[in-house]
Amino acid sequence: MKPNTILIVDDEENILKTLERLLEDEGYKMFFADSGLKGLEIIKHEDIHLVISDHRMAGMDGIKFINEVKKISPDTIRIMLTGYADVGIAIKAINEGGVYRFITKPWNNVELLSTIKQGIEYYNLQKKLDRLNKLIQSQNTELKEWNFKLEQKVADQTKHIRDLFLDAIKSLVFALEAKDKNTEGHARRATEYAAYICKKMSLSKEYTEDIILGSLLHDIGKIGIKDPVLDKKEKLTKTDYDHIQTHVLIGERILTPIIKKETVIKIVRHHHEHIDGSGYPDGLKGKTIPLEARIVAVADAYDALLSERPYRKATNNINAIKELRKFSGIHFDAEIVEIITTNGCSIVK
Ligand SMILES: [Fe+2]
Repeated sequence: MKPNTILIVDDEENILKTLERLLEDEGYKMFFADSGLKGLEIIKHEDIHLVISDHRMAGMDGIKFINEVKKISPDTIRIMLTGYADVGIAIKAINEGGVYRFITKPWNNVELLSTIKQGIEYYNLQKKLDRLNKLIQSQNTELKEWNFKLEQKVADQTKHIRDLFLDAIKSLVFALEAKDKNTEGHARRATEYAAYICKKMSLSKEYTEDIILGSLLHDIGKIGIKDPVLDKKEKLTKTDYDHIQTHVLIGERILTPIIKKETVIKIVRHHHEHIDGSGYPDGLKGKTIPLEARIVAVADAYDALLSERPYRKATNNINAIKELRKFSGIHFDAEIVEIITTNGCSIVK
């Protein structure tokens, strides 16, 4: 371990000698200077832990010297030793030079040794604290980097899982479209209309994403509908209608174990509810129908009107808009119909 270093600056040689004798057995490495200028040269080239300086010296006085020491080596402990018990000098030395102690000549040896010892201990404690702070800072930086990397990894994994999940969902939709050729592309188009409505209604990103997913899956329950009913070219009987209506419940049953998003499930169950309560499966009325289901109901109906079905030809856009407006506030939410019919032409592919 390196010895602690002390610099003594005094223009009286006998003082330097006396202090050297006093401190020689204390284990300090000592430096001496008979002027402030020489003292500063030592400060610049040596790692000095504590400096004891006289005040009244030829050339640079003690306060100026201490101020310079503070600038060059701010951690060095500074002690002022002077024959003049001038309170003004003491205050100036403490305020300007950050002096640790101010001691008057003649000093008491025991007191001076104890002050030096305390100063050196203070210096070493400060250094230890600095090292600890640096260590904490570097560990904090390292921790932040680890945290950042970890968050990145979690985000990547989450995206990967979500992509896998969406791929699986798309496979489900493809499976439905393979079974029911009449509705090929319907889910995708209805989803585009639903996304358009969400944007116009300034819905949140998360809610919109859920509505998009629900819209893509709204008719997934048709997987459970018998082919002869789905493919029927003649007018559907009441029994056929009753059977087709079960698709909302079948869809809900298929998705509930795999999708924990209530918005999606509500869309699947309620997208055939009507504002006047004449819809199914629960006959909900007005705003008791979840907003997400009211949005998909309009998007679904709009695309259905524009698409050909085995039992009817596709309607053109003008007539589709007329039809939606005819049932606005009866089957469909009036505000949503307004949104899609106002700019309907521009979003039809
Ligand atoms: Fe449906």
